[in-house]
Amino acid sequence: MAKKLNSRALAAQISWKIIDKGLSLDATLRESVQLANLDSKDKGLVQELSYGVCRWYGDLDAVAASLLAKPIRNKDRIVHFILLVGLYQLRHMRTPDHAAVDESVKACKQLNKVWAKNLINGCLREYARSENANLALDGGISQDIHLRSLPTWISTAFIELWGKSSNEIIAASNQRPPMCLRVNQRQSNRKQYLELLNESNVPAHADRFSQDGIILDRPVNVGFLPGFDDGAVSVQDTAAQLACDILQVEKNHRVLDACAAPGGKTAHILERTDNQISMHAMDVSASRCEQLTQTLQRLQLTAQISIGDASQDLKLCRPLQNADNATASNSFSSTGYDRILIDAPCSGTGVIRRHPDIKHHRRQSDIEQLLPIQQGLLVNLWSNLAPNGLLLYMTCSILAKENNLQIAQFLKAQPDAQAEDFYHPNALDLDFGKQTLPGVHEMDGFYYCLLRKPAS
Ligand SMILES: C[S@@+](CC[C@H](N)C(=O)[O-])C[C@H]1O[C@@H](n2cnc3c(N)ncnc32)[C@H](O)[C@@H]1O
Repeated sequence: MAKKLNSRALAAQISWKIIDKGLSLDATLRESVQLANLDSKDKGLVQELSYGVCRWYGDLDAVAASLLAKPIRNKDRIVHFILLVGLYQLRHMRTPDHAAVDESVKACKQLNKVWAKNLINGCLREYARSENANLALDGGISQDIHLRSLPTWISTAFIELWGKSSNEIIAASNQRPPMCLRVNQRQSNRKQYLELLNESNVPAHADRFSQDGIILDRPVNVGFLPGFDDGAVSVQDTAAQLACDILQVEKNHRVLDACAAPGGKTAHILERTDNQISMHAMDVSASRCEQLTQTLQRLQLTAQISIGDASQDLKLCRPLQNADNATASNSFSSTGYDRILIDAPCSGTGVIRRHPDIKHHRRQSDIEQLLPIQQGLLVNLWSNLAPNGLLLYMTCSILAKENNLQIAQFLKAQPDAQAEDFYHPNALDLDFGKQTLPGVHEMDGFYYCLLRKPAS
C-alpha cells in the first residue's frame, strides 16, 4: 500500500507535477486528495498550499535561491518544492513557525529524501528569523513581489494595454478570488438560500451585480453548501453569471451553446428558462462533454449534447452517447438559432487568480494559435444564426487581440453583422463590446460582445 503522505509532502508533490510536469492543478489536486483519502481539514490545507505555491512561485523561488548556497539538483526537484511549501506557510499563512518547519522536515523523510532534512530545517529556520517572514500577512506585498509572481510576457501585456489600471490587475491576478455562487432559481431564491447559508454558519452576502449571485465571506468546500449535491447552487464567478442576462434568452428560443463544457453557462440559461427551451450544447472535447453531462445531471436540466468542432459544418458533430439527459439525435436547427453563445477558448488571462496554473502553462505563442480558432468560430457560427438572432462572443481574456480586435476583424469581413449595445452593471465600454478587469470591477476579467443579424 502507498505510504500516507502528510499535507506538506502531498502539496510539494502536487505543485511539482503542475509546475515542472505541466499537469492541470484542478485535476491533479482532485486525484491526489482522493487517492490519499484525506479528511476535509487536510484537504483544505493541501489545496491552500498547492494553490499558494502555484500562485507565488516566482517570488518563493527567488526567496529560496537567497537561502540556498547552491541550487538543488534537478533529480531532487521535489526537495525544492518542499522548501517552497514551507516558505509559503511562513510568508503567507498563520502557521506557527515550528509546525511549518517540523512538518516540512518530516515531508523529506516521507518523500525518501532523508539527506535533505538538515537543509530544509536550516533554510526555513533562517527565513523564520528574518524580518520579512510574515510580510504578506502584514499587507506588505510590494509591486516587485507581484511582478516576480507573474510571467513577464503577461505583466508586460497588462501594462501596455491597461496602463494605470495594470497595478490593480497584476495584484488581483496573484490574489485569492472570492467564492461566488449562483442560486438555482428553479429550487429557491437568493434570499431563501442566504438564510440556509446563515443557518449552516456559512457567512455570505448578495452579489451587487448578478441577480442570482451570492458571495461567501470565506471560501468553503462545496460539501458545506446546503443542497449542493441536489443542484441548489453552483460555483460561478459574477462575470460569468452576467452572460445569461446579456444573451436575453426567452422560452421559445432555440439556443446553441457552442463551446459549452463544463456547462456553467448552459446550466444558468436553462435554470432561468425553467428548462423549457431547446438547448443544444456542444464542445470539441469528449471528456469535457462528460463533465457537461454531470453538471446538467446534478442540476436536473436537459439539453441536446454534441461533440464537435464548432468552427466546422455542425452536421459533422456526433451526439454524446449514454447521457441520460441528452437526446441521442443530432438535429441541428436547419433554420438557424435565435441565440448563440460562443464562450471561446482563450488565454485565460482574466481568470489567473482562479487558475494560477495558467502562469505556468500558458505561453505567449499560444495566443497566436488561438486567434484563428476564435475567428473560425465567429465566422462559422454566424452562418448558423437566424435572422434577427443574437450571438454573444465572450472570453475570459483581457487581451485586446482575442477580444475587441478579434471582433473588429470579424465585422470588417461580415458587413451584415452589427455590434449591439447591451446593459452590463460594471464594465468598461470598448469600441466593440465591454470588458471587466480583475481588481477593477470586483469580478473576473471577461470580454463580451453582442452581435445581431439583420431581420432579413
Ligand atoms: C471557456 S471554456 C467554456 C466554458 C463553458 N462555457 C462554461 O461556462 O462552463 C471553452 C471551451 O471551448 C471548447 N472548445 C475549444 N475549441 C472548440 C471548438 N473548435 N469547437 C467547440 N468547442 C471548442 C473547449 O473544449 C472548452 O471546453
